[in-house]
Amino acid sequence: MSFTNQKSPAKEAAGAEAAKLIQNNMIVGLGTGSTAFFFIQGLIKRCKKGLKIKAVSSSKSSEQLARDGGIEVLDLNDIEKIDMTVDGSDEIDHQKRMIKGGGGALLREKIVVNASDEMVVIVDESKVVDELGEFPLPLEVVPFGYELTKKQIEKKGYRTTVRKKENEIYITDNGNYIIDVQFKHLSGTPEDHEEVLKNIPGVLETGFFFNLAGRVIIGDHEGKVEIWK
Ligand code: A5P
Repeated sequence: MSFTNQKSPAKEAAGAEAAKLIQNNMIVGLGTGSTAFFFIQGLIKRCKKGLKIKAVSSSKSSEQLARDGGIEVLDLNDIEKIDMTVDGSDEIDHQKRMIKGGGGALLREKIVVNASDEMVVIVDESKVVDELGEFPLPLEVVPFGYELTKKQIEKKGYRTTVRKKENEIYITDNGNYIIDVQFKHLSGTPEDHEEVLKNIPGVLETGFFFNLAGRVIIGDHEGKVEIWK
C-alpha cells in the first residue's frame, strides 16, 4: 500500500512536529500510513539540511519513500535497538490504547515499536476516541486455512471481513491476509478481546497496541498540535 500526499493540515502538522524530535545519530523507526507519510517527508527535509540518522521501516512503502528521499534504511536484524519510532494510529483512547493496521502493516509495526525506546504517535484529532472499537480491529492471519480461522473467530462472537483490495484478497508485506473484526457489540475490555483473539491458531497478531505509546501528537484542522506526554 502506498500513501500519497493527500492534503491534511492536521496530519501534516502532527508529522512535522514529530520530525522535530529526531536528533543526530538516532536510529529511527518509520511508521506506515498517510500521517507517517508527513513525518517521513519532514525527516527527509531535515536530513537534507544536515541531520544524520539511519532508519528502519515498518513497511515496504515507507522504506521506499525514505530511500527515495536519501535516507539510509537498515535491516531490522542489523541493529540492537531503535531510539524512536513515529507512527500513526486508527484509534487512540485516553489511556493511549490503540487500534492500528488500517494500512495493513500492523505486524511489522508492532515488531518495530516493540524494539523502540519510545513510540511517538501522530494522529489527527478524529482518531482520539473515548472507547475503542468503532474502527474494525485488523488481525494478520496465516493464509493456510484462513477460512477455518475466520470461522473460529466468528464462533467467539466476532463479525469478520476478509480484507480485499480491488476485489482480490489483500496481501500484507509478510505474505499474509488481514481479517477485520468487529468487537463493539460484545462485552469485555480490549485486553479481554486481545487474549481471546491471540489464542486462535492462525492469528499472528492483532492491531491492538497497549502500553506502547509514549508521546502522542494530535494535529487539528487548523494545523495546531496538542501533545500528550
Ligand atoms: C498501518 O497499518 C496503520 O497502522 C497506520 O499506522 C494507521 O492505519 C494510521 O494510518 P493513517 O495515518 O493513514 O490514518
